[in-house]
Amino acid sequence: MSNTPHPGHSDGADVVERIERNWAIVAVGLIVVLVAMVVYTGLHWTMMPPSRVETIDPTTLHVTGEFIESNLGTAREADGSVTVRVVAQQYSFTPQCILVPAGTPLTFRVTSADVVHGFLVTDTNINSMVEPGYISTFKTKFDKPAEHLMPCHEYCGTGHEAMWANVKAIDRAEFDKLAATDRRLSCVK
Ligand code: CUA
Repeated sequence: MSNTPHPGHSDGADVVERIERNWAIVAVGLIVVLVAMVVYTGLHWTMMPPSRVETIDPTTLHVTGEFIESNLGTAREADGSVTVRVVAQQYSFTPQCILVPAGTPLTFRVTSADVVHGFLVTDTNINSMVEPGYISTFKTKFDKPAEHLMPCHEYCGTGHEAMWANVKAIDRAEFDKLAATDRRLSCVK
């Protein structure tokens, strides 16, 4: 056994205090960075929290109002804007294939008939929760014609992993041609 002197009690306390202070600065710094990220992404609409403004009765969705089956899909409104209405339910979306014009501002209106589902379109920043009783609304645009997958990304029951749909963005002129004859569009075969 060697006889090297141990640091005194007060020295040890100083070291601990210095290390704790340094880690506290790191922790506070992390929180500041994360809050700044949330504010930045929120302001720039790159992150879209679900809107909880409009409510709807999930028990009468299929019988009356905006989300009856014949009103679902993509619609060219009277003012020229394009709205996509979708209902999520265990374990599918209606319509199962969403048809949209590329290069056109779109408004999505989505609600759930039963439990909380997720609404996410691959290769885009569309990402929202879909809650029964609320209409999730978000505005977006598809830059070019392409096909996207739309998996439910909120655990909603035993069939969750099989719950997904497709989104097909097509040429704007082609869409307008279809919209002239059909009031509600989808690419369901
Ligand atoms: Cu619907 Cu998971």
